[in-house]
Amino acid sequence: MSAADDRRFMAAALAIGRQGLGRTSPNPSVGAVVVAPGTDGPVIVGLARTADGGRPHAEPIALDAAGARAAGATMYVTLEPCSHHGKTPPCADAAIRAGIRRAVVAIEDPNPLVAGVGVARLLEAGIEVDVGLGAAEARRDLAGHISRMTRGRPHMCLKLAVSADGAIGRRGEGQIAISGPASRARAHLLRAECDAIAVGVGTILADDPALTCRLPGMTACSPLRVVFDSAARTPPTARLFADIATVPVLVVVGEGADSARTAALAAAGADILVVPRDGAHVDLSAALVALAQRGITRVLVEGGAGLADAMVAADLIDEVQWIDAPTRIGPGGTLPIAGRGLAALAERFEIIQVETIGDDRWTHLWRRECSQAS
Ligand SMILES: NC(=O)c1ccc[n+]([C@@H]2O[C@H](COP(=O)([O-])OP(=O)(O)OC[C@H]3O[C@@H](n4cnc5c(N)ncnc54)[C@H](OP(=O)(O)O)[C@@H]3O)[C@@H](O)[C@H]2O)c1
Repeated sequence: MSAADDRRFMAAALAIGRQGLGRTSPNPSVGAVVVAPGTDGPVIVGLARTADGGRPHAEPIALDAAGARAAGATMYVTLEPCSHHGKTPPCADAAIRAGIRRAVVAIEDPNPLVAGVGVARLLEAGIEVDVGLGAAEARRDLAGHISRMTRGRPHMCLKLAVSADGAIGRRGEGQIAISGPASRARAHLLRAECDAIAVGVGTILADDPALTCRLPGMTACSPLRVVFDSAARTPPTARLFADIATVPVLVVVGEGADSARTAALAAAGADILVVPRDGAHVDLSAALVALAQRGITRVLVEGGAGLADAMVAADLIDEVQWIDAPTRIGPGGTLPIAGRGLAALAERFEIIQVETIGDDRWTHLWRRECSQAS
């Protein structure tokens, strides 16, 4: 297998792994590709990602698909195969049993139950192991799992659509279309790739959004909707509750929130999470720890200004999707990040991509320590 072969098969493993983002929590969406010698060069004989819901893991599915051709094959996998007996048998053992000759692993698993033991198990069985190919991409794709394992909170991505005059809306005016239709479709895809979408109660009161993924054929990919609502002000008649039977809602309230209002939200079908307060509002760090404990690995924060400002000020944002649109809001607009705009993020975040989508410019930023770690 040449270095170029290694790169393209790891790229295939990363691509298939990415397809499960938002579908596999609490487990990471791992990609695995099994490659055997063919008459015209190496061929993929098994390819899989972690199944919806987190199991089975990618490796046993790919190895099963390969069948007898796994013997002597190379397995490319975006995360170290697990070594512990969880709800499924260890993937390292499945690879050994299948008789693979070599494993190419993008990153070690930060899960303390694995953390190098999976690789050690393969090596002990005489399998050649290379770690590190595709590590930068794998760290981004698996950022939710890494964050949950190493920091006990989900990976947090802030998305904001900002007008040409720096606003994300205007109080009292309800939902204003700032970005164009192509951007809105992309934003719905981002929703599907997360385990939860979060907004502040101000957005519920102002916009009454549904916060579902409404791309054709993808409505079932709508993640949990989370409202940060210290005093349980979310109306039980909010649009969020229209499809609560299929897309759950979690309202994060502060200790001491009005019990009648909280009960009304629970009666409307919401799950209620009570967390301590930090001053007037719910303690965001405590709320994120509680979300991680519920298996949430990736959260898309969709505003509004109050929640975005608080998350940035508390240094809880790891990734930003900043959409600059040509629309003008005019006087009285709501200005995010205390009115300082994208430039305010330059110190802590690095721009990794700028794209034009329709008439809008998407700037994708990662927190420096996360992107350097990759
Ligand atoms: N263009 C976009 O991308 C976009 C996206 C979403 C919204 N918007 C716009 O944003 C505007 C709404 O902004 P907003 O600031 O009123 O709403 P918001 O950020 O959605 O909600 C603010 C509320 O969040 C609650 N909250 C809970 N925990 C908090 C904490 N730890 N720190 C701070 N706040 C916390 C606070 O109320 P409690 O203390 O009662 O909890 C606060 O009043 C609307 O005009 C909407 O259209 C634009």
